[in-house]
Amino acid sequence: MKFQIRQREPELMDQPGLSEDEHCRALAGLRRINWWSRSDAIVWPAILELAGNRAGKPLQILDIASGGGDVALSIAARAERAGIPVEVDGCDISPFAVRYATQQAAQRGLKQVRFFECDVLSESLDKQYDVVMCSLFLHHLDEEPAQQLLEIMARSTRELILVNDLRRSRLGYSLAWSACRILTRSPVVHTDGPLSVAGAFTEAEVTALAEKAGLTGFQITSHWPQRWLLKWSRI
Ligand SMILES: C[S@@+](CC[C@H](N)C(=O)[O-])C[C@H]1O[C@@H](n2cnc3c(N)ncnc32)[C@H](O)[C@@H]1O
Repeated sequence: MKFQIRQREPELMDQPGLSEDEHCRALAGLRRINWWSRSDAIVWPAILELAGNRAGKPLQILDIASGGGDVALSIAARAERAGIPVEVDGCDISPFAVRYATQQAAQRGLKQVRFFECDVLSESLDKQYDVVMCSLFLHHLDEEPAQQLLEIMARSTRELILVNDLRRSRLGYSLAWSACRILTRSPVVHTDGPLSVAGAFTEAEVTALAEKAGLTGFQITSHWPQRWLLKWSRI
């Protein structure tokens, strides 16, 4: 496998024919991967910093393509422990993922989180948020829709955009291949994990994409394990 060129292939989790059983196993597997890779810890410091500069009103956060809701729920739980008022929304194109995430929120007693169905590329979001974020979603998209996603995020945020995704690299591919096999028996995750790395953007590519989307002054930082975070503040 060569990593110089992005090789995006459609992922099994995005296929409309995926059975609920397989989807459920895949989301449970993804939960373990999010736990292992500490996805929530990658975005949390920027949210905490923003919360520190504000007082009073709850911080409104949108997690786009929220899947099983892991990151949205962990952010809400972290905020609760830190005494920071938040309202967290998660949206996803898949009605099954939305139902699954809603159940997870109920099981964890996190009433400040809600999930709704939305194809973010073709339906408009009905409000603005302080923070608009996405995790492990950008690599699902070709360049043009990926640029469109960044433009939508910029329009929908009052303060902050956070994009957390995989780095395309040989090490990332090996880690994804082995971690997916160790952490879950879901065949969907076994296939999609390495595919995701092959289809991921490098830091240089996401820089070019963000510039095309009209973002200026953003930062891209590296994170465990073979992830990057794009952070852009309106002010
Ligand atoms: C790899 S999962 C990531 C889920 C979650 N963000 C996480 O980190 O665990 C990608 C998610 O993107 C969702 N998705 C794909 N295309 C979408 C679209 N156009 N609008 C909203 N969600 C989409 C899929 O249904 C899937 O749940």
